[in-house]
Amino acid sequence: MQKLKIVCVVGARPNFVKMAPIMSELRSRPNIAPVLIHTGQHYSPEMSDSFFQDLDIPAPDLSLKVLGSTHTQQIADIMRQTEPALASVDADMAVVVGDVNSTLAAALTAVKMGLPLAHVEAGLRSFDRTMPEEINRIVTDTLSDYLFTSEPSGARNLLREGVPEHKIFFVGNVMIDTLLKSRTKAAASNVLQQLGLEPRNYAVATLHRPSNVDEPAGLRNLVQVLEKIGERLKVVFPLHPRTRSRIEAQGLTCANVIFVPPLGYLDFLRLMDEGRLVLTDSGGIQEETTILGVPCLTLRENTERPITIEQGTNRLVGVQPENIIRAAFEALDRGLRSAEPPPLWDGHASARIADAIEASADALAAARAARGAPPATPRR
Ligand code: UD1
Repeated sequence: MQKLKIVCVVGARPNFVKMAPIMSELRSRPNIAPVLIHTGQHYSPEMSDSFFQDLDIPAPDLSLKVLGSTHTQQIADIMRQTEPALASVDADMAVVVGDVNSTLAAALTAVKMGLPLAHVEAGLRSFDRTMPEEINRIVTDTLSDYLFTSEPSGARNLLREGVPEHKIFFVGNVMIDTLLKSRTKAAASNVLQQLGLEPRNYAVATLHRPSNVDEPAGLRNLVQVLEKIGERLKVVFPLHPRTRSRIEAQGLTCANVIFVPPLGYLDFLRLMDEGRLVLTDSGGIQEETTILGVPCLTLRENTERPITIEQGTNRLVGVQPENIIRAAFEALDRGLRSAEPPPLWDGHASARIADAIEASADALAAARAARGAPPATPRR
């Protein structure tokens, strides 16, 4: 029997963490031949290469170098470059993860080429359409044939939007597959010694959402909040390139905050695992702290990951300085919380995805027959 050719597309940092266990699982299945395409949305050694090394992701089969200074240009360029890449692979299905621009662009390209599409981490909704990721999630889900959800809200949202139930597969959280697999390895990281930190005696901050870092006054307020919290315990702040450039442009400095470059996956996992408190606007970190049992304050007005609040250690605190400081001091006084892991955050989400793909072999073969051979010449 011919192997199922599954093309997996990644582009930005959170994609690498989610695709690592999926690639590993697909490669272990004798009936599946996975192919990895990297769009190049994130390209620097700290934002990309270090994740491939830390997570043992095979080098991409195809690496693109996308350009574009606005989101629209970036998405358009990813589509322009992904089309010939997908055509050269002649796959049975495309798999995309998460909500970044590469996810949306690859999804739209695959569907335009008639390829069945799977979306991992489907159905998450912040109900805030000013977030670029919310638009990416909605459009990608609309286009997908296989919607793999990570928490119960995913299916609820999709069903409400009219997605047929048979397309929805509750598989659990692939990011947690990676975390559980990497925790022991991360324990060997010496990042705490390098930064002069004692376990449980520091906070970790990350900020990169346009809504938090692009507006100068808002960013200045948040940095002052970190400075205030830093009077009580050290705050480590790995700087995303977007955030670094905004902080440098304003000439912001802090005595109590340790600014460091973006960290590799294992170092960052170790840093969170031994931390006393995390302050973030990231999506994935809300999930990771839930499993690590570390209190997480999310500096946003909404979250697309409600299970981390219902069942985890996450708390939405918005961006008003006094609210963040009060919540941070309360969390520090209260200490660590143990949380029950959400359903199916058990390290086996990628195995369930691979099972579902294998079980769809007949449907994928029928889709290939209906598609016919890929066009020999580009359409004009
Ligand atoms: C992207 C994702 C966001 C995700 C984040 C994780 C979208 C809409 N956003 O945001 O959901 O949480 O990644 O990091 O896709 N840059 C570098 N080096 C790199 C990559 C980027 O210097 O390796 C610079 C770019 O030149 C750009 C800025 O960082 O100026 C932002 O990069 P971009 O990919 O547009 O979006 P992110 O803010 O990283």
